[in-house]
Amino acid sequence: MAVREVLKMGHPVLAEVAQPLQGFGPELKALLADMKDTMAAQNGAGLAAPQIGVSKRVVIFGVQSNPRYPDAEEVPFTVLVNPKIEFLTSEVEEGWEGCLSVPGLRGVVPRFTKLRYTGFDENGKPIDRIAEGFHARVVQHECDHLDGLLYPQRMTDMSRFGYTEVLFPGMDDNED
Ligand code: NI
Repeated sequence: MAVREVLKMGHPVLAEVAQPLQGFGPELKALLADMKDTMAAQNGAGLAAPQIGVSKRVVIFGVQSNPRYPDAEEVPFTVLVNPKIEFLTSEVEEGWEGCLSVPGLRGVVPRFTKLRYTGFDENGKPIDRIAEGFHARVVQHECDHLDGLLYPQRMTDMSRFGYTEVLFPGMDDNED
């Protein structure tokens, strides 16, 4: 278990389409241990395997009174392997996002407000959930990483993209 370096925007691995994970053995357990340690150390709301240089379709996410998202709804801690998303609405909502691979910055990103996500947990047990609001936003952000997309590529108004310390003075962004 170790806190791994988080790759930053511009690194080619972040732009790859990640490969489906085959098997739920010790290799996955070791990857998840590193991902959990890294996400916790950075106070992230989620982390995708490509962010630590592993181009596999594995994400983790979860929010419990996270200092980076003081107003955010809680999201259950989830390990999601080989995820699939089905959008349940055409309604889109704008919201501020940050990313550990885009440190120090925030931007407004439109996301679908309701979706169903399926996949597998760390033991290969199926997951099938409906998510709305911030939960749905986090799922879309993390799953985008598996298709080589970072949130700035989803933005439609670049005037609402900037440095956290300027946009939100006083917000503790050391752990961005
Ligand atoms: Ni991210």
